Amino acid sequence: MRLHVVDHPLVAHKLTTLRDQRTESPTFRRLADELVTLLAYEATRDVRTEQVDIVTPVAGTTGVKLSHPRPLVVPILRAGLGMLDGMVRLLPTAEVGFLGMIRNEETLQASTYANRMPEDLSGRQVYVLDPMLATGGTLVAAIQELIKRGADDVTAVVLLAAPEGVEVMERELAGTPVTVVTASVDERLNEHGYIVPGLGDAGDRMYGSA
Ligand code: URA
Repeated sequence: MRLHVVDHPLVAHKLTTLRDQRTESPTFRRLADELVTLLAYEATRDVRTEQVDIVTPVAGTTGVKLSHPRPLVVPILRAGLGMLDGMVRLLPTAEVGFLGMIRNEETLQASTYANRMPEDLSGRQVYVLDPMLATGGTLVAAIQELIKRGADDVTAVVLLAAPEGVEVMERELAGTPVTVVTASVDERLNEHGYIVPGLGDAGDRMYGSA
């Protein structure tokens, strides 16, 4: 597994406002969206392209376009949904699948409650969206499902990661073609499974606690 922490002043600036408990849902959603677009720029550095010939008003030239099969973007419900627009803004031709995963707050184990993805992901590049890489349970389960369906290149875009979650991913997904792109690896997880200092419950901060 490869880990890429995006080091950029705009990323740090937006992340600081996201962390601030005074930031309310509408601003939180807008900043998360902007932050994802900045992370998406790095996350798509190895997106596959193919050569095309075009003609400009001045001359013929060779350029590139995204290859087929199209990349697949998979937000993990609920909070990953708040990252979808920011990602597809840069990849408008991507296909979108959905995975609903919930973690048991006592055992911290992840289970799937919704799965809407193509059966066959052979040869596909997949971008998984989940704001918080905390224990790693949800992302490991999601990525194992994608790899089982044939995905041969998976990039997880997360706003924040905990060192414990990164370690679990490295252990459970050793030898798999997985990259994690994040704005920060924070200090630790607390006893409730929250990232410290983190930003709290990402889903609640985006959508309220319903
Ligand atoms: N999920 C969240 O929303 N926040 C955390 O800090 C950890 C997991």
